[in-house]
Amino acid sequence: MPPSEKPRIARYKPYYQELERGKVYLWCACGRSGRQPFCDGSHTGTPFRPLRCVAKEEKEEMLLCGCKRTCNPPFCDGTHNNLKDTYDSVDPESPENLAVPLIEAGSDGKARLDGGCFVCSVPALALERRGNLRFSPVISSTDGAVYQSQFYLEARPGESSIIGFPDRHVVLLVTAGKGSINISGREFELEPIAGVYIRPGELFRLRGRGLDGMKVFAAVCPRASAPVWPGEILENFDTTWPRRVVGIDRSQRRSMSDRFFQLLADKTVGSDMMTQFIGEIPISKATAHRHLYEESLVILRGHGYMWTEKKKARVEAGDVIFLPRKQLHSLECADPGGMLVAGVIYPGGNPAINY
Ligand code: FES
Repeated sequence: MPPSEKPRIARYKPYYQELERGKVYLWCACGRSGRQPFCDGSHTGTPFRPLRCVAKEEKEEMLLCGCKRTCNPPFCDGTHNNLKDTYDSVDPESPENLAVPLIEAGSDGKARLDGGCFVCSVPALALERRGNLRFSPVISSTDGAVYQSQFYLEARPGESSIIGFPDRHVVLLVTAGKGSINISGREFELEPIAGVYIRPGELFRLRGRGLDGMKVFAAVCPRASAPVWPGEILENFDTTWPRRVVGIDRSQRRSMSDRFFQLLADKTVGSDMMTQFIGEIPISKATAHRHLYEESLVILRGHGYMWTEKKKARVEAGDVIFLPRKQLHSLECADPGGMLVAGVIYPGGNPAINY
């Protein structure tokens, strides 16, 4: 298509809309409408035509593409992130940002920001012991989490107790140490950084190796308040999904301007509930934005600040961030070496969609 025939970019992010059930909306495809994101007839004389959009539910939330370059019209698919060389960012040292107070962690290790968002220092957690395993909840319903809970697990050398989260989807993140996991009778080797998916009804057992064993985060959806400890492993591994462990693979990286991400445990390994990813962030403070998904993030490398724009908290490697849906926020990387993060989102399969 010649450049002149490309749709006009109305804006570089989607429009959040709550649509009435059954009503027909016409999404502007040409980018010329003065009634964005909907058509006002301005496409007349262009090769573009508006697209019908009908909500199936009352007040259905939609992110309608504003850049008009989405591959999934009328919805945003994250393409807008790649229309500029650098991710939209702001100066963290502007007078307004310097006035934002820095929140310190409370006695529970959590620095609480706006809207239920918090940063948790994992070494501050009091770990329970069960045989070779030490563990603690990190994100739970008492924190305001709606969709997912998260647990921190240290698998000491040797075999752990058998762990279950009945009827839940479980996504593990191995952040340190080596070992293996037995998922309902099927054995997999583990090393950092790896994502692992465990299907509802399956049980698992960790085996840490070396002096320190393994450090693992477990995201659980729907939420669970605690694991259960069955006496024996079930041989009910779901062979429909034989691949369960996904490591870092640079050939799978996707760009978001000057940032990168790679999906780990996602629907390709059977995880159609939660989506896990790792992302690289260069030194910068992103422009404040929101997501329609609830997110848990583990900082793997680097340091910076988590902002909810009226408050901020320091983050460093090993910290966990909990981010509720729709909370205005930005993650600042203050490390010249960049920041590496791993996240789990629900609902949604694309961590590049923001508004
Ligand atoms: S606004 Fe067009 S893809 Fe997101």
